[in-house]
Amino acid sequence: MLSHDTATSIDDSQTKTALVTGANSGMGLATTVDLLKKDFYVIMLCRNEQRGKEALQTAKQQSKRDHVELMLCDLGSLESIRGFAEQFHKRFSKLDVLINNAGVVTTKRTTTADGFESMLGINHLGHFLLTNLLLEKIKSSEQGRIVTVSSGAHKAGKIHFDDPHLEKNFSVIKGYAQSKLANILFTRQLDDLLKNTSVKANCVHPGAVSTSLGINRDTGFGKTIHSVLRPFFQTPAQGADTAVYLATFPDLTESGEYFYKRKIAERSELSQDKTLAENLWAWSEREIARVNKDLLKDLDELKES
Ligand SMILES: NC(=O)c1ccc[n+]([C@@H]2O[C@H](COP(=O)([O-])OP(=O)(O)OC[C@H]3O[C@@H](n4cnc5c(N)ncnc54)[C@H](OP(=O)(O)O)[C@@H]3O)[C@@H](O)[C@H]2O)c1
Repeated sequence: MLSHDTATSIDDSQTKTALVTGANSGMGLATTVDLLKKDFYVIMLCRNEQRGKEALQTAKQQSKRDHVELMLCDLGSLESIRGFAEQFHKRFSKLDVLINNAGVVTTKRTTTADGFESMLGINHLGHFLLTNLLLEKIKSSEQGRIVTVSSGAHKAGKIHFDDPHLEKNFSVIKGYAQSKLANILFTRQLDDLLKNTSVKANCVHPGAVSTSLGINRDTGFGKTIHSVLRPFFQTPAQGADTAVYLATFPDLTESGEYFYKRKIAERSELSQDKTLAENLWAWSEREIARVNKDLLKDLDELKES
């Protein structure tokens, strides 16, 4: 079980606070550095303490800023997300920017601590719960922003309600595309729920970016193919540009949209289906309640705290 930072509450009345998931690598680290340079107080949400600590030092060196901290959370564990949210609520009065960036690609079927297929569990369900648990804090910001990193791969995706965790029929593209379609449908429904607030929720396709995505963290499998493709891909900073733009551009009017290179981009028909978005939201709530019925009750308690 990961531990959480237990530092005391901070005075965030004069600063803007941003939370970046998967902040130790690739676009998450680049996003962190960019937000630090724009004078945000940045919380780097990472699942691994060692990788997180190294990235924290890198972020400080690259940005020449030190208003950044590491908080541990495994988005593949509902309990870890709940613990993280509890710490956050104790320490911060608001959240100005949430970047749902963390993601995995697994070539074999793996499951999260709660038994969810990993890509759906981490890329979608983990962020679904995290965002919901932090929503009241984001609404407390004058100009709250939620940016979820999706992918053009969503175009190959369907939501497989008959076999969502791909127990009967797994393939990497089926799982990854489903999770990235879920990111867009989640954003669409979130925007509906936030209609009467000042919060803007959008998602992005970053393009093909040279990162550690798909590289096995234990075995290093996948590194060779990445190094061969690297010259053809964007840098992590280039890939992070649209997410940072959506998080910080003061006059942003759009919400519920899908962006690529700072512009609204073409997306699949399924990703625009309102009924599908509503059904996925209801399914996600049920799925979380199936594992731990108290987690959604926590939402109400957090709202009152
Ligand atoms: N690279 C591309 O070409 C591309 C294209 C389209 C979309 N995307 C999307 O871009 C986002 C960022 O990926 P990236 O390309 O920058 O890949 P990356 O370098 O592999 O970074 C992924 C980050 O997510 C973290 N993460 C994974 N599982 C987690 C968990 N259970 N809890 C908390 N954090 C977790 C990783 O932590 P560890 O290092 O500890 O594993 C890492 O920090 C992803 O959502 C991906 O789907 C990427």
